[in-house]
Amino acid sequence: VKEKSAIFIIFGGSGDLAHRKLYPSLFRLYKSGFLKDHFAVIGTARRPWSDDYFRETVITSLKDYFDDDEDVMKEFAKHFYYQSHDVNDSEHYIALKNLAAKLDDQFDCGHNRVYYMAIAPRFFGTVAEHINSEGLKTSGYNRLVIEKPFGRDLDSACELNGNISKAFPEDDIYRIDHYLGKEMVQDIPHIRANNPTFEKAMNNKYVSNIQVTLAESLGVEDRGGYYETAGVLRDMVQNHIMQIIGAVASDEPDATDAKVIHQHKCDLFGSLKELTPEQVDKSFVRGQYDTDKLGEKKSYREEDKVASDSEIETFTAGKIEFESKRWSGVPFYVRSGKRLPDKQSRVDIVFNDKVADLGIRANTVVTLLIEQIDGQSILINGINYKDSGQDFIKFPEEAEFNHAREAYESLIIDILSGNRVHFTLWDELRSTWKYIDTIRERWDSQTPEFPNYISGTMGPDAAEMLLERDGNTWIWD
Ligand code: BG6
Repeated sequence: VKEKSAIFIIFGGSGDLAHRKLYPSLFRLYKSGFLKDHFAVIGTARRPWSDDYFRETVITSLKDYFDDDEDVMKEFAKHFYYQSHDVNDSEHYIALKNLAAKLDDQFDCGHNRVYYMAIAPRFFGTVAEHINSEGLKTSGYNRLVIEKPFGRDLDSACELNGNISKAFPEDDIYRIDHYLGKEMVQDIPHIRANNPTFEKAMNNKYVSNIQVTLAESLGVEDRGGYYETAGVLRDMVQNHIMQIIGAVASDEPDATDAKVIHQHKCDLFGSLKELTPEQVDKSFVRGQYDTDKLGEKKSYREEDKVASDSEIETFTAGKIEFESKRWSGVPFYVRSGKRLPDKQSRVDIVFNDKVADLGIRANTVVTLLIEQIDGQSILINGINYKDSGQDFIKFPEEAEFNHAREAYESLIIDILSGNRVHFTLWDELRSTWKYIDTIRERWDSQTPEFPNYISGTMGPDAAEMLLERDGNTWIWD
């Protein structure tokens, strides 16, 4: 393991994301030696905390995830500093710049900076502009990391992108979609590239349909405020589901060059078959959860910070199609929702009977299991061949599968290494937002009959009918 050096400036350093995801991931990188002596973390937020207090909060969060000796955590936390910060105050950026310079000398960080936006999206543009105008950028690398949501429709995404790209060149912008950090999502192209028969069958001649399911058993929990501005279409489909489809369906899965990989993904999303408003009614179903069968759980409308007549969807199922040589005519059925029976993220590839010509049993289903939480245990990286009776597809032998690496950990390594493969490009977002906007606009013009599914079930019946109409069924139900 080669040690990396950088100063992380985390905007929103006192927040939930930082404590739940970033600090634990940084700690793992510290324990594995990616981060050692030459790094520092500056947390910023409005409240006036001391360095010591900040370090205590970091250690307290780490204890939720690790049972390491507290001394190790304390050593790690010595690299943490806190700076109270008002995002609109230019003086504060100067203070930040000076602190970063001082820590760079102290820890010898090679003048590298990672500016991490773990704040509310409305501040992304302002912060990026100030970083630039107040001269925080250094002679090392200067990488801007942006969390989702990246806009809430095409217009707002364009505006946000305009603002950040005034301050940072595209090559220095790392837009996070944490699903791209998940191992199986990263492995899908390798699996395709290393299994020639499988890859040969991945087109409209042999594939009957592809199903992507991101099911969650939890409700919105304490995120009602945010969720009311989003809904599952924006929260899961525009980003995570589309990116999974990118891994499954893009051309040239053996490409290694980030630019080539992104180009193929852009081409794929550019070939999304546009929907007319009437087609939205036929191709997309929405739902909102009610209480459970026993009447014990809150319905969505009863959740904290949720309007009692909310029309926000917590479930959607839909049929996405592409107009391309490879995929025309193959329905991609997608589905995501909260309060479904289980937490499960998976892709089911359903082949037709012609695959027999390739030596694969007719109608084989290949399931790529991204994640499944079964009681306490998490199973990732599984391939099942339902009814196939043969191992025609294998994990590539030369690849190393480290089942312990968390999505954020792997994404942070990529950021520190300048590897942009697992981040989303603006052109991809433009196409996916455009597609999502059509659905959203149609929905906004109609009044849904919500709530329409019972917590703990697979969503509204219409989601089943969507496939039945085409003579198909959900593989996971
Ligand atoms: C986030 C969404 O992007 O992904 C959440 O905002 C959702 O609503 C989460 O719960 C699911 O991620 P994971 O990794 O738990 O499947």
